[in-house]
Amino acid sequence: MLLLKSIAELQAYRQQLNDTVGFVPTMGGLHAGHRSLIDRARRENSRAIVSIFVNPLQFGPSEDFAKYPRTFDRDRQLCEEAGVDAIFAPTADRMGTIDGTTLVVPPPEMTSVLCGRTRTGHFQGVATIVTKLLNLVRPDLAYFGRKDAQQLAIVRRFVADLNIPVEIVPCPIVREASGLAYSSRNQYLSPQAKADAAALYRSLQQAEAAFWQGDRHSQHLIDIVRTELKVVPQIELEYVELVHPETLTPLQTVEERGLLAIAARVGSTRLIDNVLLRQPIVAIDGPAGVGKSTVARQVAQHLGVVYLDTGAMYRAIAWQVLQLGLAVDDEAAIRGAIDRSDLRLEPDGGSCRVWIDDREITDEIRTPEVTAKVSAVSALGSVRRFLVRRQQEYGRTGGLVAEGRDIGTHVFPNADVKIFLTASVSERARRRHKELLDRGYSITLEELEKTIAERDRKDSTRAIAPLKKAEDAVEICTDELTVSEAIEGILEHCRG
Ligand code: PAJ
Repeated sequence: MLLLKSIAELQAYRQQLNDTVGFVPTMGGLHAGHRSLIDRARRENSRAIVSIFVNPLQFGPSEDFAKYPRTFDRDRQLCEEAGVDAIFAPTADRMGTIDGTTLVVPPPEMTSVLCGRTRTGHFQGVATIVTKLLNLVRPDLAYFGRKDAQQLAIVRRFVADLNIPVEIVPCPIVREASGLAYSSRNQYLSPQAKADAAALYRSLQQAEAAFWQGDRHSQHLIDIVRTELKVVPQIELEYVELVHPETLTPLQTVEERGLLAIAARVGSTRLIDNVLLRQPIVAIDGPAGVGKSTVARQVAQHLGVVYLDTGAMYRAIAWQVLQLGLAVDDEAAIRGAIDRSDLRLEPDGGSCRVWIDDREITDEIRTPEVTAKVSAVSALGSVRRFLVRRQQEYGRTGGLVAEGRDIGTHVFPNADVKIFLTASVSERARRRHKELLDRGYSITLEELEKTIAERDRKDSTRAIAPLKKAEDAVEICTDELTVSEAIEGILEHCRG
């Protein structure tokens, strides 16, 4: 790992890189929240660069610039362990962050709400340093935490407004076991203060549960937070606001999405936290033959959200391949065909109607000819990447249930609820055996067990979309459960 201490060193290093660069800007005091951004940058790029710079421009005169945690040796070790390629850690004089420098001024509507009410000038300081860092590092992707939701919205806005050629990747909030969001400033808290501070997230969760149960009124949701926090007198609330997550305009009611954000002091430490309110995204992963699609459809119906039939999307492409007479290994031709056509799912109760351009193909994708081609088509990397992007577009406003093998790990890593549905090999064999006997087939239980175990092994080790339990997924074993008990178990997690 390289340590770059000056702009010249960074530029010389950057110049000789011609593969993709992921960038994580930080102010040091690194913790598990930063680490999650770094890990993602590592995974998604050939190179990962982390900057560590306590930016004086974003601290007010009465703020904690002087005492902000500076833990360089530990930070360096964390980066080393995470496989970072280079740390950019300039000194303030080298970064030119002095009074009178040119400032990037984000739209006042975005900087006068939430933290901007009390932290005058803070977001200009952030926008200025982030612009400079992006200009210097020139990353393909830059990673920002949702913990600082206002910062994220502002960064996305000025990057778009100023045509800075980078993709901003929002990353989920990482929390301690108590629910307290990791923050460099948590170092200032005593164990008791930390325990008190956990009420911040608890209050947000209460409001989120009410939202999922249908309460859309901002004032109600804000009141839930206030009431919950009154119980902990050590918390001095600065604000609770419900705004649009992108424009940051205050909302009376939450139609699609809302950002419920709070700032509070615990003792002299100022903490922030938030939740993104939207209909939940529920990711259900698990091995073949566990009944995921039956369960997922019914969970979607109970929640009144869309069942995103990802399998139907692969079938639609297999159908197209057949229609156009393409060879399943002609990836370029297949990619060209899907780029030229418009594949859409239209939710319809617990299932989806499927369209390509003006033609509905809901029934046609269920023929044996299509079935025979699906697995070859799904094995094509570019088809998969294309469909994952489409699926993520459907997920932008939340409100869906999807099932598969890597929904919680890859397609919707930010899913609100992640379920890993399992059943033992013997139980799945028993269920399948019964099904086959009912249909008049004869096969022994032992043969089925072998086939299922082999399929599990292949599914977990395949190169594309391997079956994997997300770290934050809840495992539900259905061996002893009826279908409705499994569904109830999942709904319980959705209620928080
Ligand atoms: P800093 O507070 O060090 O945070 C760096 C990045 O880590 C930010 O994108 C922040 O949102 C993210 N982060 C912090 N805590 C997190 C958590 N618990 N879960 C997920 N992500 C988390 O934000 C800044 O520095 C500065 O303003 C900066 C952008 C570097 C400009 O100076």
